[in-house]
Amino acid sequence: MDEMFPTVRMRRLRGLKLIQETRLSIDDLILPLFIDENIEGRNKKPINSMPGQYRFSIEGAVKEVLEARSLGIKSVLLFGIPARKDAIGSEAFNKDGVIQRAVRKIKKEVEDVIIITDLCLCEYTTHGHCGLIENGRVVNDPTLGVLGRIAVSQAEAGADIVAPSGMMDGMVKAIREKLDNEGFTDIAIMSYAAKYNSALYGPFREAADSGYKFGDRSGYQMDFSNAREALREVELDIQEGADIVMVKPAIFYLDIISKVRASFNVPLVAYSVSGEYSMITAASENGYLNREEVIMEGLTAIKRAGADLIITYFAKDIATLLK
Ligand code: PBG
Ligand code: ZN
Repeated sequence: MDEMFPTVRMRRLRGLKLIQETRLSIDDLILPLFIDENIEGRNKKPINSMPGQYRFSIEGAVKEVLEARSLGIKSVLLFGIPARKDAIGSEAFNKDGVIQRAVRKIKKEVEDVIIITDLCLCEYTTHGHCGLIENGRVVNDPTLGVLGRIAVSQAEAGADIVAPSGMMDGMVKAIREKLDNEGFTDIAIMSYAAKYNSALYGPFREAADSGYKFGDRSGYQMDFSNAREALREVELDIQEGADIVMVKPAIFYLDIISKVRASFNVPLVAYSVSGEYSMITAASENGYLNREEVIMEGLTAIKRAGADLIITYFAKDIATLLK
């Protein structure tokens, strides 16, 4: 038998930094930003469903990225809101689209920032779905060609990593092939591999103006009852060429993060989504809980579960807290 009480006293080391197993680091954080083509100058517009978060003009986004860099944040994830939408989301692959212009500008003005671009159709289509529509349904295969085109236009603009978020089957393969054919062999793919159909995306729909006009996303996003399926999704994306895989959302899905970490050896990113941000913000604004403590606890839990990287709207708060 192992030694026991009173020889063993767990309280002896309790709270010592020396034995802390998980450490949140500013190096692990990715800040999501919304860039709205309709906003002029250096302005920004508050997002009602996410108090403290904004949509930025392109100029405003440059300023925000500079500030994030000065806080030590190394990477940003960019979402674009175009001035014009159509059925196939053609602004998403416009050479002079909002994201392409924003990426070029940020690359020019900000040193040493890793730019990740969200790669999806929902912000760019009038119907708000993540794929093309035929006969009232989202069709998988015809969408793949468009995703490839978007990837190339983002790479041409200067994106370092593209992040397909639409959960189309075969999207990683289609994007990798297209990028490689165009000579972008060094552009990495961060795949939203296990993305659940979650009510926690609610606030994001206002943030990114990506709400859908009919149906829902259950035809392509995962059922929250399933865990083994997530491992298959991740496995397939790795086989297709994903460099980094994602589990999303994060805090309700720590078991999935932990399973993916145990099963695969690629970098794993967890996306702590809009609903996680808004819940914590609302409760702390009401004085029901302590904002800073809950942020640290929640994000440390995500790392403890096994995430290497965390996409979080709290990135700037944490940067300040860790200073
Ligand atoms: C759309 C997309 C969504 C999010 C990221 N990309 C919403 C959705 O799938 O409906 C959610 C992010 C968040 O809630 O913070 N491809
Ligand atoms: Zn989408």
